[in-house]
Amino acid sequence: MPQPCNVVIFGASGDLTFRKLIPALYNLAADGDLPGAANIIGFARREKSDETWRTELKETTAKCSRSGLSEEIWAGFSKRIYYHVSEFGDAAGYKALAEKLDALDAASGTRGNRLFYLSVSPTEYEGIFNQLAAAGLNDAKIGAWTRVIVEKPFGTDSATAKALNECIAKAFQERDTYRIDHYLGKETAQNIMVLRFANSILEPLWNHRYVDHVQITSAETLGVEGRGPYYDKAGALRDMVQSHLVQLMCLVAMEPPSSLSADAIRDEKVKVVRALRRLEGDGVGRDIVRGQYDEGSIGGKQVPAYRTEERVNPKSETETFVALRMHVDNWRWHGVPFYMRVGKRLAKGGAEIAIQFKEAPGVLFNTAEAPLGANQLVIRIQPDEGVSLRLQCKVPGSTLRIEPVKMDFHYGTSFGKQSPEAYERLILDAMSGDATLFARRDEVEEAWRYVDVIENAWHASENPPPLCPYASGSWGPKEADELLSRDGREWRRM
Ligand code: BG6
Repeated sequence: MPQPCNVVIFGASGDLTFRKLIPALYNLAADGDLPGAANIIGFARREKSDETWRTELKETTAKCSRSGLSEEIWAGFSKRIYYHVSEFGDAAGYKALAEKLDALDAASGTRGNRLFYLSVSPTEYEGIFNQLAAAGLNDAKIGAWTRVIVEKPFGTDSATAKALNECIAKAFQERDTYRIDHYLGKETAQNIMVLRFANSILEPLWNHRYVDHVQITSAETLGVEGRGPYYDKAGALRDMVQSHLVQLMCLVAMEPPSSLSADAIRDEKVKVVRALRRLEGDGVGRDIVRGQYDEGSIGGKQVPAYRTEERVNPKSETETFVALRMHVDNWRWHGVPFYMRVGKRLAKGGAEIAIQFKEAPGVLFNTAEAPLGANQLVIRIQPDEGVSLRLQCKVPGSTLRIEPVKMDFHYGTSFGKQSPEAYERLILDAMSGDATLFARRDEVEEAWRYVDVIENAWHASENPPPLCPYASGSWGPKEADELLSRDGREWRRM
């Protein structure tokens, strides 16, 4: 159960706060899930009154909230929002924050519980952790808790991630550290474990004997959307693969955990990352394709090339697309390729996981003259969240014709209610002390170690693999198709 608490958001003027965090907290309040005693305190540098911040937030929440905005609910909710002006490195600002939190505890019954949410540039992390510790704000009072949620990017490689973890560990215990990966909060990502372990028919097939390969796709039609300075240093591999896509892959590939406790689940996930075959030497050129979007057209609208985007280096070598052929070197997945692709400015937006089973034996119906497609289980992460299974069926009539059909489950129609946004679930979990859907230190560092090797090869002075251009509005560079066609396979059409 979420407990009464004060939520302090560092980075109150940031885009994430306006677009995601406050709308998520508002929807929790609207659904009656926010604890009765809970306040939100925005911490930022810019001078602003509580009232000004509330007015700004009202406008953006009305635009970004999944349920719109009700005047009545907002009136009650906004009374719990406060603004705190301070530089991130100003000790006096933290002392004043501590006093404010004590006063709010006394006035509203938040019991000394504190949730710090760091939604700032990673360069600010160290200063904030040091100041929190210096002001004693990291120490929970007797009978209360203090937790910290840290946004990605969580470092830029394994060394910086390790340094950041060490810096956090000086102020907070691991059990109070919540590294957010919003993909884990998506309804369908949570459903992967349920699908696998609450049904008895799938798990016997979930291995190298029956699965031919797995495809994980995350496609966006959007470009860098003004995030040039960050993205141009990161690229698709660091921005999406190291975090979101590796996390999804872990949920698909992991062994059944011994319980549903956060650590039992994360123990199994980290084993998958450790078992990922490292792509070294020729492997990087052979098993990975990196691309960058050129100009093109999306939905009938002409869009610019990545290199001409605002605040992007016109000679940038940063990848906005990456496709990988990966292997989990363990007993269950021996010889099963996991193909992953992620990119911006692609033909269509969406994220899904497709489990392609082996073909039916080549006798009776599946013949060389009329080969049948293999069965495919598709987990749609977004949009139109759901699961579908492709089966072969006889077309009604007096002749024998076989065609694939889909058994399809849509969240929207089956449950008749909207799925909560990922941030709603994750904030609630942090308020409840449940870290299951957050990344643990060892998972994050291991995923970086996997990515480091690739980044090093890409930036090697001799023979770095090429950066392949692709037209905006396409499905990425042709080399990504060749990655699969070499194996006699093709990407699923989304
Ligand atoms: C973020 C990345 O973590 O995830 C962005 O930094 C990306 O580059 C975003 O656009 C995608 O999230 P979603 O929920 O829109 O798929």
